[in-house]
Amino acid sequence: MSTTTDQMKFLSLDELEITLANARSKNQAIGFVPTMGALHNGHLSIIERASKENDFTVVSIFVNPTQFNNAEDLANYPRNLEKDLSLLNHIKNIYVFQPRVDEVYSPRIPFIPMNLGQLAMLMEGKFRPGHFDGVVHVVHNMFRLIRPTKAYFGMKDFQQLTIIRAMVKHYQFPIEIIACETTRNSMGLALSSRNKRLSEKGLKEALIIYETLEFIREKKHVFSIQEIQKQARVFFAKGNLELEYLEIMNESCLLPASSWDEPLVCFIAAYCEGVRLIDNSLV
Ligand code: PAF
Repeated sequence: MSTTTDQMKFLSLDELEITLANARSKNQAIGFVPTMGALHNGHLSIIERASKENDFTVVSIFVNPTQFNNAEDLANYPRNLEKDLSLLNHIKNIYVFQPRVDEVYSPRIPFIPMNLGQLAMLMEGKFRPGHFDGVVHVVHNMFRLIRPTKAYFGMKDFQQLTIIRAMVKHYQFPIEIIACETTRNSMGLALSSRNKRLSEKGLKEALIIYETLEFIREKKHVFSIQEIQKQARVFFAKGNLELEYLEIMNESCLLPASSWDEPLVCFIAAYCEGVRLIDNSLV
């Protein structure tokens, strides 16, 4: 059964398929924003953009079990469907799709895994083995179900975005991938569903991630890439977080940077009050 509010419609899989077939027959542009719920202003700015750039947009809310390499992380992932729906209520031209696991991982959607190679061996891939295989699988299946014209991904998950681009090429999906800027709070902290698990103190302490990224941007060219990574780790250690990795990588291939002259991205992953946070910034 679909639930209808003023702007937003909440569709079952069958209803979604009928809506999409109808849209395709009229050559309409279909936007797609995949989410795992626990929506915040970062998601909302992406969804608002997609709603403006397409005839309508499908927003999926699906906590994908296959991308969690840690059962506790999956169990603790914040879920609040009612609040999510109330946040989406004012956005025009969107359909919310909240599928069941068996609908996403259905035998109707055959999947041949791709080899992600080096892209999945570093950073998130190294510390969360199997994570990107799960992301590729769910996004592949959602792409097959929805067949959007454009799909929107946040730059906060830059490595994920790079892998999605590689995946679209590999499976030859005729889908345009749109990269959306990271939304930050007034102090610079990147918005994330995981921030909901931080105390007031944790939210302040987590700012060291953004400050370290800014430190690197300011000191670029003063030091060699190797030296600045050392200095940045020392700067980061002044805070209270546990660093997992701090890397400066080439923007397009995500291999370790060798010169300031190439487009670079600095990546940080760290634990704050036991919550794993990631962020990055173009250097
Ligand atoms: O970035 C996320 O929230 C997830 O990895 C995604 C793309 C919705 C796939 O589950």
